[in-house]
Amino acid sequence: MDKDGNLYKIILETLLKNIDEGVHVIDKNGNTLIYNKAMEKLEGLKKEDLYGKDMLDAFPGLNENSSTLYTALNENREVLDKYQTYMNKKGHKITTLNSTFPLTKDSEALGALEISKNYTSLKSLYDKISIMQKELLQDANKKRDKRYYDFSDLIGCNIDFLNEIDTAKNASKYTSTVLIYGETGTGKEVFAQSIHTYSERCNKPFIAQNCSALPEGLLEGILFGTQRGSFTGAVDRPGLFEQANGGTLLLDEINSMDISLQPKLLRVLQEGYVRRIGGLKDIPIDVRIIATTNINPAEAIEKGLLRRDLYYRLSVINIKLPLLKDRKEDIPLLIKHFINYYNEIMSKDIWYVSEEVEKAFISYSWPGNIRELKNYIEASMNVVQTGHIIKKEHFSAFVQSKVFKDDKVHIDNIDYEENMGLEKKVYLTEKKIIEDAMAKCNGNISKCAAMLNIKRQTLQYKLKKYGIIKK
Ligand SMILES: Nc1ncnc2c1ncn2[C@@H]1O[C@H](COP(=O)(O)OP(=O)(O)OP(=O)(O)O)[C@@H](O)[C@H]1O
Ligand SMILES: [Mg+2]
Repeated sequence: MDKDGNLYKIILETLLKNIDEGVHVIDKNGNTLIYNKAMEKLEGLKKEDLYGKDMLDAFPGLNENSSTLYTALNENREVLDKYQTYMNKKGHKITTLNSTFPLTKDSEALGALEISKNYTSLKSLYDKISIMQKELLQDANKKRDKRYYDFSDLIGCNIDFLNEIDTAKNASKYTSTVLIYGETGTGKEVFAQSIHTYSERCNKPFIAQNCSALPEGLLEGILFGTQRGSFTGAVDRPGLFEQANGGTLLLDEINSMDISLQPKLLRVLQEGYVRRIGGLKDIPIDVRIIATTNINPAEAIEKGLLRRDLYYRLSVINIKLPLLKDRKEDIPLLIKHFINYYNEIMSKDIWYVSEEVEKAFISYSWPGNIRELKNYIEASMNVVQTGHIIKKEHFSAFVQSKVFKDDKVHIDNIDYEENMGLEKKVYLTEKKIIEDAMAKCNGNISKCAAMLNIKRQTLQYKLKKYGIIKK
């Protein structure tokens, strides 16, 4: 018995130390027996301030009638889910949700026990969830009037890019999860929306949620919903999984999702059920999940940002979007596309960009990818007042300094491995110079040979050697 008694004591102590709820126990004289860590944090007091004393000494604002602990003790009754707002010792106004129980043996009062939850932070959490969900739904409604992107919005003829479009179109036929990896501005959102619009789900909701910049608790509530609980003070609210039912849910920047939330997401994906926070019911869901990452998934796993098991679950279908600098042949097409697009919006009649602008655009490395290109065209079209051609002077000084770096040949980053020998480095550099030059000359071999000041035959030999054209 003694042994068991010791064990129970250890269990109790461990429990009290580690639970989030505050626990306060008084004896039949109103003196504090237990006052755990969570309670200390909640009320801003130290257990030493209370132990062995009448609890009312520590709470001058309370008396035997208003104190829930005293009520439970004196009236031998439970007080459940009672909100209490008071100033704690640090002068902070806090609201707690309390349940208080009398402790009795053979109808003799031994004391009372109170369990408190911090409602101040919970309430602000739920208020935030409520505001964010309203905004999301407003967004979704606005979008319903606009149209979502579809594959016709995706411009390009680069072979890698076209392969990814094929994969995406195929994926639209089924509901397997898709993981889209691409750096900023490469078109992840356009791909995700296009998969939705091309699928049978096109008339059902498409909801996008960015997973970064949201604390775990908040995102969890937004995704899975909340349920009015006996203790949490939460209200009934469906999460995005329920709201997107029948449609598509885009989890943007999954690599930024809090790592502790990832197993919960994995469970929902595996089981096909979602359970609201504080809820007991498993709600079946039928949602197509598309996730995006702006860093390489292998790197995200290595850095501990993405759980490997979640990665495998998400990447049933993988789409990797090329950087704009690796699809330079698409730059003239994109320029034309965006000029047409903004001609319509701005009621202008621009025809094309000057040769100088096109050349500079082809050489530039485009860290912001297609978004950056689109923005530059938009900005320049605001400036063109007369004529039909976008010229260098129509770009801001900032853009000019970045993009128009005279005519010096500029070699973009080449991924050299650390221990690579000189010969291999020279090989890669020459390959890159020739690729860039070919892109600048739109694949015209004679023009390119002239530009590089080598014989046409020599260039042809090198093009084959580097696999730039087929043998
Ligand atoms: N292939 C394309 N053809 C035409 N426009 C494109 C193409 N890809 C992207 N865009 C345009 O480029 C802009 C950026 O695309 P999007 O928002 O899909 O990029 P993202 O990869 O989601 O970027 P981020 O990681 O910064 O969110 C959008 O305005 C989109 O319309
Ligand atoms: Mg995006």
